[in-house]
Amino acid sequence: MQDFYSAWLEASGRVGKTVEEAPRVAKGKNLNWVRTRQDSKAALMIAPETGFPTGGSLLMKAEVPVAWHTGRHLHGEEAIYVESGEGFLVLDDRRYDFRKGTIFHIPYRSPHQLFNTGKEPVCYLSGLAWPLEAFIHMGRIEQIEDAGPNDPAALAKAPQEESQYWPADGRRISMHEEQFERSGETKHGATYFLMGRTGKQNGFKATAVAISSIFLDLPHSKSHSHAHPEAYLYALQGSGYSEIGAKRYEWEQGDAVHVPPGMMHHQHFNPNDTDMKELRFEFGIRYWFVDQWEGYATIDRHMKATHMDD
Ligand SMILES: [Fe+2]
Ligand SMILES: [Fe+2]
Repeated sequence: MQDFYSAWLEASGRVGKTVEEAPRVAKGKNLNWVRTRQDSKAALMIAPETGFPTGGSLLMKAEVPVAWHTGRHLHGEEAIYVESGEGFLVLDDRRYDFRKGTIFHIPYRSPHQLFNTGKEPVCYLSGLAWPLEAFIHMGRIEQIEDAGPNDPAALAKAPQEESQYWPADGRRISMHEEQFERSGETKHGATYFLMGRTGKQNGFKATAVAISSIFLDLPHSKSHSHAHPEAYLYALQGSGYSEIGAKRYEWEQGDAVHVPPGMMHHQHFNPNDTDMKELRFEFGIRYWFVDQWEGYATIDRHMKATHMDD
């Protein structure tokens, strides 16, 4: 019988191959929608269940029908982006309003629920580190209430929004699109830095899951070329392609791109006449590696966004 150490060596050999051969793009058009206790309609995009070799993270897309709410539950940290619709989040017992483009940071084990009070379905994206939490036996999901139609009487009694910050420690919970500030960074056509880990970036303390930034790539341009541990990109607008590990992957609005764990070189291209806009998710587990990796640095081949022909 094979000894455990030989099995480890074999597994070590498989890690690189698994990542090498894995998919990179979750197609928005091919999602497998299901009903869950938490969401009337939900689909996993980048996740272990859909064949992506993630670092214990996932990206889910979900819809809240008009006059419905999600379930109320608690679990590890979560980052949410509202792609369409309007309503409010109840986190603990406070209300935080949302509309198209709002981002939410859900603190570790805080009960939360989304209410759709608008005239169209609410579509949202959710980043979670559930697979990692479950693997290390620290994951607990508590379902307090299931998804369902809103009760108008209860809705009328909902509190008004008082603040975008969390009373427990003053960190930011929500940010609307018009509050996003363009940075001076030149690795893309434009970069908006959103959630940070220490409270210094817009007041967010997103330790496990962050919507780290939004990139805008100009027509006929390419981003900087670089390598770092895992990140996700969701295509908010436009279409283009990415080169990841020297292979080309096409994507369009509504698709999600997986830059896998490891240091795979990648670059994003906009060959079209219109802007391309991407939402970037980043997971705290990467810093567990970065912090112990002596001399770790993102490897930049080209520092700046440039024209396609340059
Ligand atoms: Fe949640
Ligand atoms: Fe990157």
